[in-house]
Amino acid sequence: MARRRQLYEGKAKILFEGPEPGTLVQYFKDDATAGNGTKKGIITGKGVLNNRISEYLMLRLAEVGIPNHFVRRLNMREQLIREVEIIPLEIVVRNVAAGSICTRLGIPEGTRLPRSIIEYYYKNDALGDPIVAEEHITAFGWANTMDMDDIVAMTLRTNDFLTGLFLGVGITLVDFKLEFGRLWEGEDMRVVLADEISPDNCRLWDAKTNEKMDKDRFRRDLGRVEEAYQEVAKRLGILPEAGMRDMKGPELMQ
Ligand code: TMP
Repeated sequence: MARRRQLYEGKAKILFEGPEPGTLVQYFKDDATAGNGTKKGIITGKGVLNNRISEYLMLRLAEVGIPNHFVRRLNMREQLIREVEIIPLEIVVRNVAAGSICTRLGIPEGTRLPRSIIEYYYKNDALGDPIVAEEHITAFGWANTMDMDDIVAMTLRTNDFLTGLFLGVGITLVDFKLEFGRLWEGEDMRVVLADEISPDNCRLWDAKTNEKMDKDRFRRDLGRVEEAYQEVAKRLGILPEAGMRDMKGPELMQ
């Protein structure tokens, strides 16, 4: 792997300059954090699996007309993506109550919501990613009403498509978080799906037993974390080429 200039290091990924202008390389780490960085650990093989799972889901979403930043997977831990201007919002969709909605509103975990609920959070680590309303988003210029119309439409379609896809492999899509970015092509701009979709930012429960198959196993010290990520990939039919033998994948070279 050629040396590449590192542009940004996040909690679970590193972004490097891409081979051509307008592209980036997204590297998936095994590092796991929870509680806005207060809990730290390593989930061995997570980076390899999330790279593969996110590739698969982004490709499937592109097939049904949901534009996203994914170009192609480069190797076990890296994928080529289009460079976008990230909109500083976390878009959370909830189908079943779990996590923060339970503590915030006193709803028992596992309650099926009467309809899917979209929530917005302002991406700002120093503030702990506070929940915000569309009024805040447009008033402070993080996105305009046209961007929000596109974001909501793509989010609802993503939820419909992924709910069906996961149900087909015996998994309930409880909730998930999306991020969007502005993709510039000359003078033209369109909003596209960005970041990743993986068990790091989805709640996935076994459809029969409600067993958790996502990062909540790490957040809540439930054990069998690696196995849960592997099981998701296995059910989607996309375990890495080397199978479970080499979940470490190539080392990061900077
Ligand atoms: P929450 O219940 O903690 O608000 O999380 C809702 C969903 O969003 C859950 O699938 C985890 C995901 N999420 C992230 O991916 N990143 C975050 O920073 C947060 C707070 C949630």
